[in-house]
Amino acid sequence: MLVTLKEILAIAEEKHIAVGSFNTPNLASLRGIIAAAEELNQPVILMHAQVHEEMGLCTMEEVAPIMLAAAKRAKVPVCVHLDHGTDLDYIKRGLELGFTGVMFDGSALPVEENFAKTREAVLMAAKTGASVEAEIGSMGSREGGNAGDMENPESIYTDPDMAVRFVAETGIDALACAFGTVHGIYLKEPKLDFDRLAKIDSMVSVPLVMHGGSGVSPEDYRKVIARGVAKINYYTYMAKAGAEAINGKTFTQYHDIVTAATQAIKEDVMKAMRVFSGL
Ligand code: 13P
Repeated sequence: MLVTLKEILAIAEEKHIAVGSFNTPNLASLRGIIAAAEELNQPVILMHAQVHEEMGLCTMEEVAPIMLAAAKRAKVPVCVHLDHGTDLDYIKRGLELGFTGVMFDGSALPVEENFAKTREAVLMAAKTGASVEAEIGSMGSREGGNAGDMENPESIYTDPDMAVRFVAETGIDALACAFGTVHGIYLKEPKLDFDRLAKIDSMVSVPLVMHGGSGVSPEDYRKVIARGVAKINYYTYMAKAGAEAINGKTFTQYHDIVTAATQAIKEDVMKAMRVFSGL
């Protein structure tokens, strides 16, 4: 069942869980994720990331119709979300394709420009009924890179007072916060700023989003969910699980590689979902 980001986050808040939000740069990952969600009977968010196009993976135009068809067919609530759209034209194209949630990522822009463009994304999304996530503060490197190599990460964490202003002035439905997670493989154990997260949660009314969500310990997942995180973005360690199912093995047929990777992705997603949903 296809639902909006706002609707799926309301389910998360009501159940005191976080909805797993997984990138689907190809059909194998998409099928593994849907199978995991249906087997555990959990809501799920499928995401297309703009940055994956730069890595030679599916374009938004190629994958969006497949994501939407899978969501409509699914036995569980599914949001089809655009992850890290960094320009408004891209967001507009995504809305026209039917994404039910979009993230406008202006975190690399000067703050006032991030405010103005996020506001514009909210107005654009209102026309199609889609919901908007946006980010204030920064997670550092984007998907697919290595994480944890920043000199002074606290300098770009989300400021609680700024977060209040950002939510009020833009009208977003979900807020991505920077508090110690980063995209990619963790080179050292992440140290999350739980106090900052709790403070932001007590000051803003919208659900919070954790990016860089794979590779975090089950204890830390539980702590962030207790502090207002209702959407956890998860990709790198799922992709790693797919690669590990193949590494060192010999295949003669390409489809056997895809089948092995899909199964490994499904199992990794189920493991994450069990923690996110307290199963
Ligand atoms: P990971 O790189 O930790 O999987 O995070 C993915 C993400 O945040 C996508 O937006």
